[in-house]
Amino acid sequence: MISRCTFAVLFFVLGKHFLVNGLGCNWGTRATHPLPGNIVVKLMKDNGFNKVKLFEADPLALRALGRSGIQVMVGIPNDMLASLASSVSVAEEWVSRNVSYYISNRGVDIRYVAVGNEPFLKTYNNQFTRTAFPALQNVQAALIKAGLGRDVKVTIPLNADVYETDAGVPSGGDFRADIRDLMISIIKFLDNNGAPFMVNIYPFLSLYADSHFPIEYAFFDGTSSPVVDGSVTYTNVFDANYDTLVSALEKNGFPSMPIIIGEVGWPTDGDSNAKIEFARKFNQGLLNRISRGQGTPKRPSPPDIYIFSLIDEDAKSIEPGNFERHWGIFYYDGTIKYPLNLGNNRNLTAAKGVHYLARQWCIMAPDANTMDPNFPQSINFACTYADCTSLGYGSSCGGLDIKSNASYAFNMYYQTMNQQKGACDQFHGLSVITRIDPSPRASSCKYEIMIDTSRHEKDENPGTSSAGKMHNSLVFLAFFVILEFSSLLFLIL
Ligand SMILES: *[C@@H]1O[C@H](CO)[C@@H](O)[C@H](O)[C@H]1NC(C)=O
Ligand SMILES: *[C@@H]1O[C@H](CO)[C@@H](O)[C@H](O)[C@H]1NC(C)=O
Ligand SMILES: *[C@@H]1O[C@H](CO)[C@@H](O)[C@H](O)[C@H]1NC(C)=O
Repeated sequence: MISRCTFAVLFFVLGKHFLVNGLGCNWGTRATHPLPGNIVVKLMKDNGFNKVKLFEADPLALRALGRSGIQVMVGIPNDMLASLASSVSVAEEWVSRNVSYYISNRGVDIRYVAVGNEPFLKTYNNQFTRTAFPALQNVQAALIKAGLGRDVKVTIPLNADVYETDAGVPSGGDFRADIRDLMISIIKFLDNNGAPFMVNIYPFLSLYADSHFPIEYAFFDGTSSPVVDGSVTYTNVFDANYDTLVSALEKNGFPSMPIIIGEVGWPTDGDSNAKIEFARKFNQGLLNRISRGQGTPKRPSPPDIYIFSLIDEDAKSIEPGNFERHWGIFYYDGTIKYPLNLGNNRNLTAAKGVHYLARQWCIMAPDANTMDPNFPQSINFACTYADCTSLGYGSSCGGLDIKSNASYAFNMYYQTMNQQKGACDQFHGLSVITRIDPSPRASSCKYEIMIDTSRHEKDENPGTSSAGKMHNSLVFLAFFVILEFSSLLFLIL
């Protein structure tokens, strides 16, 4: 009880001085051309992020975060839950290699371990319901044994679908019936260990899932049809969703359980509502409230948040939708998408020291014919290995004519393959290389030039042999082929 109160007070203080205490972001690394860790860490620092959440104990990210002054949450992927649940010694090994080592030997300021990622998501069909809690308990036990019980807290990042409201209003909130007992056991456990409840809230997905969702209700600028809940009026779905959780916690005996928002954000491409303009409106609205120290009707002080996400990831699974690769407030290379005041009254600062491949593009040859029998399979081939999510209906390059569309696909493939010799010759004579930027003017559709990862590697460790590099690109290619298989299916279907 004492620890819970202490934590609540601390939380209140942090909330009130949010700007001093900074802002968190998610750093995902599912990209064909990931930015080097040191550049990403500099990007975070330049923009005032002082907390970061990683989806796994990525050695490159953790090394770069050493002695950076950035507080780190290390995630554990769902596919590791079963083995961590099976024995404490597996958890001890994980903590030793992935937490203790980085704290003691690399100076990484690890504050949290996030066990699993939305493990109780309805679409997972109970795949992780038996393992998440035992894994959490074993990781906690391992942290205590490693002497880190006080400094490193555990939690489980949960999707907002772990709670619901029958009444249609936040005050009716309770945990989902099928996992209610489990949720209460987990919250009791977190509470006993001074750990927070972590939830991901996505107004964009509410809009995406329901074509009748009132669009203004997704943002923070008021709505003509608010939700009235007794004496409280809700004008945005973020507040309503968050307060539904607060009600669920209250109802089950945890009125002052601290809540952290593990992910919140808005994508900029891959769907007609995934627009730059909307992303800016949503994120700026959210950040302004936090800067003002504004919380929700039920929790007046703002929660700690981790923006999703820092940078785009072009190799993420697009099972949830094409927008999945476009959540970054920065593009994959650390360039700025839109102006955003993160609460420090400064504009965003782009990544520095990024090396690019040559300024050349692979496009459809001027004399090539779209009726060519090889045309459809050439585009399919390109989009199987490269990211074509910007070509979909309502996306940034969705309005291209058929030739420009093919050019975009060919170029994406060419860039993804690092402009390697022969990469632009894969399209049955339908393509050529050009040095004139084919991106349409006055459009947000951009024909990418990828970053030069081999030059960055050389910067980071000058000794890498070319054999090593060859090996790396083969491993990468295999990885990408597997990842992209799902998008091929997607395109075919
Ligand atoms: C440390 O984390 C990485 C990344 O999730 C994982 O692959 C590895 O197995 C972990 N190490 C141990 C000893 O569990
Ligand atoms: C921030 O960016 C906006 C738009 O790009 C510009 O109008 C404004 O002058 C910039 N503000 C600062 C403080 O640099
Ligand atoms: C552009 O290519 C994509 C990917 O193959 C395809 O889904 C889309 O229908 C094409 N659009 C046009 C206008 O050809």
